[in-house]
Amino acid sequence: MKILIKNIKQLVQTEALPRIKVTGAEMKNITSISDAWLAIEEDKIVGFGRMEDWEGISDWTNLTIIDASDKIVMPCYCDSHTHIVYAGSREGEFVDRINGLTYEQIFERGGGILNSAKKLEEANEEELIESALKRLNEIMWQGTGAVEIKSGYGLRIEAELKMLRVIKKLKALSPLTIKATFLGAHAVPAEYKNDKQTYIDIIINEMMPKIAAEQLADYCDVFCEENYFTKEEAIKILIAGKKHGMTPKVHAEQLSNSGGVLAGVEVGAISVDHLEFVGDKEIDALRNSKTMPTILPGAAFFLSLPLPPARKMMDAGLALAVASDYNPGSSPSGNMNFMLSLCCVQYKMTPEEAINATTINSAYAMDLSKTHGSICVGKQANVFITKEISSYAYIPYSFGSNLIETVIISGKIVTGRQ
Ligand code: NIG
Ligand code: FE
Repeated sequence: MKILIKNIKQLVQTEALPRIKVTGAEMKNITSISDAWLAIEEDKIVGFGRMEDWEGISDWTNLTIIDASDKIVMPCYCDSHTHIVYAGSREGEFVDRINGLTYEQIFERGGGILNSAKKLEEANEEELIESALKRLNEIMWQGTGAVEIKSGYGLRIEAELKMLRVIKKLKALSPLTIKATFLGAHAVPAEYKNDKQTYIDIIINEMMPKIAAEQLADYCDVFCEENYFTKEEAIKILIAGKKHGMTPKVHAEQLSNSGGVLAGVEVGAISVDHLEFVGDKEIDALRNSKTMPTILPGAAFFLSLPLPPARKMMDAGLALAVASDYNPGSSPSGNMNFMLSLCCVQYKMTPEEAINATTINSAYAMDLSKTHGSICVGKQANVFITKEISSYAYIPYSFGSNLIETVIISGKIVTGRQ
């Protein structure tokens, strides 16, 4: 199977030499080629360039040709933080928040993550697979080609294993590249409210060995926050996760400055995510680390949180990734095109910075930047073709529009759009 896309108005985020991430002021640059071609063979990108340098077709066998005149071609988005395996929805809490309750107050009443845990307990694997596959297809049609999915609505051993087994099955069922994260430390279940240590012991001594034995998780994550898990608890859990082969990630400084970033840097986390309450100390710690600061504009938007200091972090020379946080409580959307718009409108990121943050840097945040996140020879052929639009800046500009016409995942044109 071969695909040739020709007459591309702009081929965006091309790389002659692959990079693993883009930092600081470099994020302002995107290499793109006007009037371009792109060649795909099997599941890989095998060539690209300017139409005027194109050498023509020597072998027509099994070749599909796509004319992309007046259309933009981009690498698919990489969404490095989601919770898309869940049961039911939580629009009731959304209405409660409109009427004045806060996210924290809803949690204290037994809602929030605990509400989703109740619903998940009652759902079977088949139902969870079916609803998650719908969401995966939805985000694929919105241009996402790789996604990380967390557990964390189980909070009991069997339910956490159920979530992670569902994610493992999704890896086989969906064309998307999927990474799995164990988030047993998402909240303290009601029965351990006054005995958090016992729940932490269960996470470390009972859940982790089973998860490792079945190879169910690539990463381990902790919600480091007041009323959830402290910095010290996060470090302990993440170090235990590492011993079981799970790389650390952290939900950090979302609702307050709670030490999540410092915990993440200390244990060598691949990413620290949210960052609404990041300060100078955290920025300094991140500067000399391998940890990718990741903002989740959908969650800050939906919960009306203060905005993470994206500009300050990039000006300090840090890389920045952006992910959707698709989940039923704080970001019921995985549309990365909308995340691009939020980046540009609310965070004053340029379209170039926003594209770097949602492609190569978010690929880094799930160890995929060697194979995903840019148009580069040898990388996986995950690309999308837009409708006729004037430039790539039109994508964040035209917020809420559906501008994607064709999606190619692992060298296959995805069909069956709903
Ligand atoms: O990333 N912050 C914690 N966890 C999720 C929200 C989960 C929920 O409300 O269901 C988040 O925002
Ligand atoms: Fe999250």
